[in-house]
Amino acid sequence: MVTLRPFHETDTEFFAGMASDERVTRFVGDGQPWDQQTIQDRIRAALQQDPLGTVGSSRWFLATEATEPVGIVVSTRKEEGAEIGYWVSPDHWGRGIAGAMVDSALAVIPEVYGTQKLIARVDPANAASAKLLTRRGFKLETHHAGLDLYTLV
Ligand SMILES: CC(C)(COP(=O)(O)OP(=O)(O)OC[C@H]1O[C@@H](n2cnc3c(N)ncnc32)[C@H](O)[C@@H]1OP(=O)(O)O)[C@@H](O)C(=O)NCCC(=O)NCCS
Repeated sequence: MVTLRPFHETDTEFFAGMASDERVTRFVGDGQPWDQQTIQDRIRAALQQDPLGTVGSSRWFLATEATEPVGIVVSTRKEEGAEIGYWVSPDHWGRGIAGAMVDSALAVIPEVYGTQKLIARVDPANAASAKLLTRRGFKLETHHAGLDLYTLV
C-alpha cells in the first residue's frame, strides 16, 4: 500500500537522490539532473508554505510503502487550477506506484487547493506518465513549449 504524507525537511536526502539521477530527470525540465543548489532552492520553496491561493505556491508529498520512501508528488497553484507532478524512485518503477500515488493525489489535492481542476504537463515521449493520466480521466488539452498539457475537471 502506498501512502502520501506532507514532505519534511528530513526527506531531503531521498529527494536529492532522485533529483540527481538522470533516469528520473530525463523528462523533467531541461532533462538534466539537478545540482545541489537547485535541489535546496526547490525544497525551501516547497517547505515555506506560501498561501495556497498564491500562484506558484507549492506543496509536496512523500509517498511511502511500508514506511520506505518510494516517490514524491509535487503540486503547484496555477491560474487555472492545481498542477501535479510525480516522481518514483527507479528501483520501484513498473509496479504501479505512480498510479497509486496519483490516485491518492486525486483524493487530497483538490481539497488542499479548493479546486476541482487539475493539470499535468508531460513530455510526449514519457509514455508511462501519459498512460497513467489518461487512465484516470485526464484529457490531452494542448501542447505548449514541448510538453503535452493534460487536464482533469
Ligand atoms: C513516469 C513514472 C512516474 C512512472 O512510474 P511507475 O511507478 O513506473 O508507473 P506505474 O507502474 O504506475 O505505471 C503507469 C502506467 O504506465 C505503464 N508503463 C510503465 N512503464 C512504461 C513504459 N516504459 N512505457 C509505456 N508504459 C509504461 C504501466 O503499465 C502503467 O499502465 P497500466 O496502468 O495500464 O498498467 C516514473 O517512471 C518516474 O518517476 N519517472 C521519472 C519522473 C517523471 O518523468 N515523472 C513524470 C513527469 S510528468
